[in-house]
Amino acid sequence: VSTADLAAVGSPSASENEAHPVEITVLFGSQTGNCQELAAGMSRQLEERGFKVALTSMNDFKANALKKIQNLLVVVSTQGEGDPPDTAIQFKEFLYGRRAPKLENLNYSVLALGDSSYELFCETGKQFDERLAELGATRLTNRIDCDLDYDDPAAEWFEEVLSKFAESQVSVQVQPDAIVSGGTEASAFSRTNPFDAEIFESMNLNGRGSNKETYHMELSLEGSNIHYEPGDSIGIYPENDPNIVDLLIEETGWDPNGLIPINKKGEEVPLQEALRNNFEITVLTKPLLQKIAAFTQNPELQHLVEPGNEAAVTEYIHGRDLLDLVHDYSLTGLPASEFLPLLRKMPPRLYSVASSLKANPDEVHLTVGTVRYETHGRERNGVCSVQCADRKNPGETLSIYVHKNPNFKLPEDSSKPIIMIGPGTGIAPFRSFVEEREVTEAEGKSWLFFGDQHFVTDFLYQTDWQRWLKDGVLTKMDVAFSRDRAEKVYVQHRMLEHSKELYQWLVEGATVYVCGDEKNMASDVHDTLLTIIEREGSFSTEEAHAYLAKMQQEKRYQRDVY
Ligand code: 2AM
Repeated sequence: VSTADLAAVGSPSASENEAHPVEITVLFGSQTGNCQELAAGMSRQLEERGFKVALTSMNDFKANALKKIQNLLVVVSTQGEGDPPDTAIQFKEFLYGRRAPKLENLNYSVLALGDSSYELFCETGKQFDERLAELGATRLTNRIDCDLDYDDPAAEWFEEVLSKFAESQVSVQVQPDAIVSGGTEASAFSRTNPFDAEIFESMNLNGRGSNKETYHMELSLEGSNIHYEPGDSIGIYPENDPNIVDLLIEETGWDPNGLIPINKKGEEVPLQEALRNNFEITVLTKPLLQKIAAFTQNPELQHLVEPGNEAAVTEYIHGRDLLDLVHDYSLTGLPASEFLPLLRKMPPRLYSVASSLKANPDEVHLTVGTVRYETHGRERNGVCSVQCADRKNPGETLSIYVHKNPNFKLPEDSSKPIIMIGPGTGIAPFRSFVEEREVTEAEGKSWLFFGDQHFVTDFLYQTDWQRWLKDGVLTKMDVAFSRDRAEKVYVQHRMLEHSKELYQWLVEGATVYVCGDEKNMASDVHDTLLTIIEREGSFSTEEAHAYLAKMQQEKRYQRDVY
């Protein structure tokens, strides 16, 4: 982009901007709230520099307004296998639809969030970036594809964007903390500055003989000034399994005390500590394999990552970790201080809050499902969940922060009905919802659908639900225990059994919440909702789709799926 293209942008200095404020639209498509938080942080910084900013969710954006905009920043994430966030679906359809406008006057740049352990990394961001160009818009700066450890790259991209908007403003230094911290909160703690929360209680909710292990954890927030609302999550920075770390050190021959740089500021910690706390060692991704191949010049590894071998790479990385890689390719004697920075920074794990802060001042409760399985000849453990189950006792602390999720919120009008569908650990946010509704004496009706394998061992928080049902805080509850009888019953079967009444609740303005497994449960539940709407509303298939899309648009269909 030449300066001439930015003529419309006008002069860069803040004082002159006040006379002709440059207008920038910051448009985000967020599922769990990361994009929203980033977009809000950037907007704040733009405003501080004298720009006029319109910050909007794609969900609320009048797509037709696009024609009138000159400067656009798009911040969008990708879900699972290359899907857009729920809040970006409509906008994406608009851009690809017949009514998409020509956008010759638009300057834009895209920040894509994703997870490089998925095949279609940052797919939605890529699509928006390409599509806007096809429609005639001009790229202000190149798109950035950010992985789970997005703070530094996002800050770099934003710095470049800023300097484009303000060509003469010399060297704009953007601190990652500045664009990722939530802003208006009073708490000093955030994703980039987590709080050490003491564990009050930790107990397995599943009974003896269950296939599952689900920990109810109660953490202290005392002294943190941390606030959360039902629907928010807690991010936990876990520690890698010390045994795996030691095996890795043994296999590579690294010096456990050698100093390793852990961030851009050049802070260093001993290797053993860095491997425990700072880097991800349990997931292999394609980009990581490519980096390691290039770095080590290992011929076999270089062969593996050659173009055309994508399928072999996918197969190799599936279920394997760094220890497998260094073992299988005999990666010994590598300079650790250069190798470790190739790894992703330890990503936090998000758990939906299972408590209401109003009912439990200075506390947060979580529902943590333990992940253990065996593959490629070794026992594998979920880093965070097994740490919580096996290596963290009451009295010890966890490094946490609040992750706001504006897309999973109780209705503002507490007299409105809510329908909650949460099998397995998907139950967590609904415990916070109902607890909140109890303590605030909300009048709206509520209906819970819960499912798990066995009634006797897996009915999570059974006594809470039964009490709330008895007290009338919970209006209805339907449960589906899938392995108590020969034929499987799932939550969606219970929904279908109550098709008429469920539709009636929708007509009365109920909000539907779905939490839990994305791949199977959430899509089956989605289809079931369509069936119910079609059947009970006497709609065509298309009309039912439109009905549910409209509910989504109106935030009456919200999902927190993983
Ligand atoms: P299953 O393990 O017997 O298959 C929580 O994990 C509950 O969700 C379990 O009862 C599990 O049943 C069930 N479940 C598995 N797949 C599902 C799907 N596609 N839809 C709804 N529930 C599902």
